[in-house]
Amino acid sequence: MSESEIAAGPNAAQSDYWNQVAGPKWVRLADSMDARLAPILDLLLARAGTQPDEHVLDIGCGAGTSTLALAGQVGASGRVVGIDISAPMLTRARQRVADRALTNISFLEADAQTHNFGPDLFDRVVSRFGVMFFADPAAAFRNLRGAMRPGGRLCFVCWAPLADNPHWQIPLEIAARHLGPPTPQPPHAPGPMAFSDQAYLRGILEEAGFRNPRITMENVSLIGTTPEEEAALACVMGPTARLIEERTPPEPVHEALRREIAEAFRPFAGAEEMKLPAAVYAVSAE
Ligand SMILES: C[S@@+](CC[C@H](N)C(=O)[O-])C[C@H]1O[C@@H](n2cnc3c(N)ncnc32)[C@H](O)[C@@H]1O
Repeated sequence: MSESEIAAGPNAAQSDYWNQVAGPKWVRLADSMDARLAPILDLLLARAGTQPDEHVLDIGCGAGTSTLALAGQVGASGRVVGIDISAPMLTRARQRVADRALTNISFLEADAQTHNFGPDLFDRVVSRFGVMFFADPAAAFRNLRGAMRPGGRLCFVCWAPLADNPHWQIPLEIAARHLGPPTPQPPHAPGPMAFSDQAYLRGILEEAGFRNPRITMENVSLIGTTPEEEAALACVMGPTARLIEERTPPEPVHEALRREIAEAFRPFAGAEEMKLPAAVYAVSAE
């Protein structure tokens, strides 16, 4: 699937966003995002329980961090396919695989909601934060289920509500005081918080034909460096960044925001690193 085919499909807006806006930022910040989200990768790998020789699909694989880790778990006779709509993220992922000369990973530039994978391919379908962006999530999960082998398992992590994620809520409240509140979005709109309502998420998985959905909220720490760097990150990634992109404040306001956010983050700073409280849903289904 080419970028233009994806752009003509149901997730055109997300394709645009992940190719033009968010993808290049993730690539630039890939190493610090890896460190930041490492505890969540550990949680996902523990829950996915991937075994040697298995075939695994990594949805919204981005720059390939989870894909590489999964490839280590399935071993040389297993296989991991990473699918993503973001060309810049996939370029980075392919580079990482080439650097390590791995042969059990391949990537697809395609929309996971509509791509025709073929039947009975995967023992596990896994994702770290790559499944909350579908225009039609029930159709997407039905499509993914069709690619799974009998007895296969779906396992992913997605964000719990904003109120349980102070690393986002603290800067967003500060930014909203300066810039006004974010424009209300339709409930469950594609985006990081699309699955933060457990009942809705369970309904989507059941509608797509998955059995025994299990959703548990997990409290984790995101690993940061300094309050100043965390404040700068909050202003380029996540809900606060979205609000800033929308309102385009002049640089002095931007600067005041960064300062205030850094002060609010200071209590989370330790001697060597920051630990920012966060909460995700760990989701699995058969
Ligand atoms: C928040 S990032 C997570 C990236 C990666 N899984 C990680 O944890 O580092 C979300 C990823 O989902 C991808 N994505 C969004 N919608 C998609 C779709 N319909 N099909 C495939 N990938 C998609 C984005 O391009 C992006 O790389």
